[in-house]
Amino acid sequence: MPIHIPRGWELPDSAATPEHLVLGRRRAMGLGAGLIAGGLAAPALAQAPASGLAAMRNTRYPAERALTPERDATSYNNYYEFGSSKSVAATAQRLPLRPWSIKLEGLVEKPQEIGLDDLLKRVSLEERVLRHRCVEAWAMTVPWTGFAMSELLKIAAPLASAKYVVFETLRDPAIMPGLRQSWYPWPYIEGCTIAEAANEMCFMAVGLYGKPLPPQNGGPLRVLFPWKYGFKSGKSLATIRFTETRPVSFWEKLQSSEYGFWANVNPEVPHPRWSQATERLLGSDERVPTKLFNGYGAFVADLYQGLEKERLFV
Ligand code: MTE
Repeated sequence: MPIHIPRGWELPDSAATPEHLVLGRRRAMGLGAGLIAGGLAAPALAQAPASGLAAMRNTRYPAERALTPERDATSYNNYYEFGSSKSVAATAQRLPLRPWSIKLEGLVEKPQEIGLDDLLKRVSLEERVLRHRCVEAWAMTVPWTGFAMSELLKIAAPLASAKYVVFETLRDPAIMPGLRQSWYPWPYIEGCTIAEAANEMCFMAVGLYGKPLPPQNGGPLRVLFPWKYGFKSGKSLATIRFTETRPVSFWEKLQSSEYGFWANVNPEVPHPRWSQATERLLGSDERVPTKLFNGYGAFVADLYQGLEKERLFV
C-alpha cells in the first residue's frame, strides 16, 4: 500500500482556509489585504490561531504614502527585550505566540485574565494602513490588522476612578536576552489617558500584511498610537492595568528630558539631540516632512485642549 508522507508545504484539508473566508478575502482585496491566519503552513506561523480570521480594510484613515516593503518593516525593529540593535527579528522568533493571555487588572469592575483567542472572538477585526513614526526619525506605512482599543475598554470595564491605562510587555528572561541588561527599567511599560485609549485611533494590532503579527513587531498583540512617537506603542502585551496615577514609562524612567508621557509627533519640537522636522522612509532613502500628530490631528487634536501647559510633544 502506498504511504503518502506529506511534504512540509502540504496541508491537510482540515487546515485549508474555508471558502467563505477566501471569497471574503478577495472582496477585501479590492480594498486591501485581509488576514487569513488559519490555513498558513509556514513554521513561523504555526502558532497562529486555529480558526481563520478575515478583516476588511477600514479606509477612514488614508495613509497617503506607499506601503513600506514587508521585509523592511519586519527586519528593522526596535525591541530592546531582544537586544538593542535593529536586527532582533531572528532572536525574537523564540517568543511563542500561543498560548497567550492578557491580564486586565487594577481599577476595573472585575480583574480578569483573558485568552487572546477568546478575546478575538469578542471584537471585530479590521485592517488599517497607518503611518508609524519612530522618535529616531524613521517611518513606515504598513497594513495592521486588529481592533479598536475602545472595544477592549468595554471588556475591561474600568471604574470611574481609573484615569490612565498602562500597557505592560511580557517579561520572560528565559527567552528575552535583553532583560539581562539590568540598567534598563524592565518591564517595558507605556501608558495613556483613558480618553486617549477610547479615541478611535488607538488600535490593538494582531496582524501585519494580512498575517499574524510577527514577534519582532510585537506579536501576538500590541498597542498602536499612530499619532505619537513609536515608543508609546508597546509590544507583546501581557498586562493592561488601569490606574488613578500617571504611569512613568520605560523610556521616561531612563531619560525623562528626552522621552515624556505624551510624546505626540510634532515637526517643530526637536528631540534634544536631533531635529524632528523630517523623517526617513524605511525601504528607501527618501526623506519627507514630518506632520503634526503624524497627520492624524483631525482625529486626535481635541484630546489635548486645555493641556497646553503639558509637555505634549516630548
Ligand atoms: N515595545 C517593547 N516592548 N520594547 C521595545 O523596545 N520599542 C518601541 C516600540 N515598542 C519597543 C516597543 C519603539 S522605540 C518603536 S519605534 C516601535 O516599537 C518599533 O516598532 P516596529 O519594530 O514594529 O517598527
